[in-house]
Order: sequence, then C-alpha cells, then structure tokens
Amino acid sequence: MSVKNIFNDEDEQDDRWSAVDAYTISHLHPSSRSNSKTLVHSLENSLDQGLPDISNNPTLGKFIALQCQIGQVTHALEIGTLGGYTSIWIATQNPQVHVTTIEISPEHARVARENIEHAGVSDRVEVIIGPGLDVLEDLKKDVRDGRREKFEFVFIDADKINYLNYFNASVDMCEKGSCIVVDNMVKSGAVAIDKEDNPDSIVGPRMLIEAAGKDKRVDALVMQIVSEKTYDGFLVAVVL
Ligand code: DHB
Ligand code: MG
Repeated sequence: MSVKNIFNDEDEQDDRWSAVDAYTISHLHPSSRSNSKTLVHSLENSLDQGLPDISNNPTLGKFIALQCQIGQVTHALEIGTLGGYTSIWIATQNPQVHVTTIEISPEHARVARENIEHAGVSDRVEVIIGPGLDVLEDLKKDVRDGRREKFEFVFIDADKINYLNYFNASVDMCEKGSCIVVDNMVKSGAVAIDKEDNPDSIVGPRMLIEAAGKDKRVDALVMQIVSEKTYDGFLVAVVL
C-alpha cells in the first residue's frame, strides 16, 4: 500500500496512548516529586491566561530534561518558550543548567516569567523576547566574541518554516557532542508525503530533514512519538 493510501489527515488519538502516559508518569514522575506541582501549575496558569494548548507533554518534557542530565549540560538554548514548561523541566531537573529561551510574543514571555518565578528558577532561566532569527544573530555574536558560553543542548519548538534557519544558527553556537532536539517533525505522518501544497508545518520539517542528512556537521534521526495530544515526533541531532 502506498503511504498516500494509509495516511490519515485527521489528528489521530488513541486512549491507549493517554493511558500509558498516565500510568508511566504516575510511577516514574509521581506528584510527590519536588517539581511536579510547579510543572502542573505552569500548564494550568498558561491555559488560564489564554496561551495555546501546545506545550510539551510531561514525557517529552522529562525526556528533554534527562538529555541535559545525560550530557552534563551547563548551557541550554530553547527557541520557542511559550509558557516556559520545557524550560522549567530542564532547570528544575538540572541544578547546574542555565537556560536561554527565546519567545517572540511578549504576552507569552510574561506568562512564562511568572511560571519560571513560581518554579523558583528565574535566576537560571533567561527569557529573551524577540523574533528568533534576530535574537539568534545577537547570541551568535555574543558566543563568537566570548560574552556567552557555547550551548551543549538546544530545543527548537517555534514557527516550523524557520526550522532549518534555527537549526543552522544553533549548530554554529554548539560545542561538539551537543544534542539538538526539534519538536513536531512528524505531524500524524504527513512529513513523509511530498506534496506541492504542503503547509509550512510540513515544508519546514522536510527542509530540515533533507538538509541535516547532507550536513557533515551533524548526525540525526527522527523518533516518532504518540501521546495524549497526537501522533508526532522529534528530530535528535548530535553535533560532530
Ligand atoms: C503546534 C505547535 C507546536 O509546537 C506543537 O507542539 C503542537 C502544535 C501548532 O502550532 O499547532
Ligand atoms: Mg511543539
């Protein structure tokens, strides 16, 4: 069967995916953990204040936080703060990490700073407001001129059409051996389909996959994931 025949445009949902997340998180990150309540608070406060319901789920948040732990990361970069949920995961799990996170929306950044303050990590999470490409240019100059440390971990989760630009700017600022994770790379399988009229949310991930495959500076894969929200996935790259 060709992929065109099995591909379903609908956002897929399956009760088993939610049940497995709920079961595993209840054991592997129970509400008794020191950061559990503040993470839930950040999601609730973000929704209460009208932010879109597109934060990472707890499993992906913890995956990212554990990547920083595995890599003994001290400087992490995030492109797309939203309400600060992923930054809070990274900073609360990793007392050694300083997070620099970029957010285009001043309103989202305001809510993120509230949530980061509530989590008690505002001394280690720097929210920079501005368009990603402009802020990344400034950060690149800072890194080049020694005003900032290089990064050892990057999470990209912003406007999808600029994924390759964000990725290239990130590679330029990373130490060798760094890990770059990019969200929303699968979109219910739509990434596999080459269509003239693909939306930006597919064009961006496809450009990144095809460029990363030829890029001698990195090695990468895409991991498919299912969750309460949908069937999606992330790209993981190591900087060589
Ligand atoms: C959307 C964006 C995201 O980063 C995400 O994880 C899910 C959905 C969106 O723009 O619809
Ligand atoms: Mg996302």
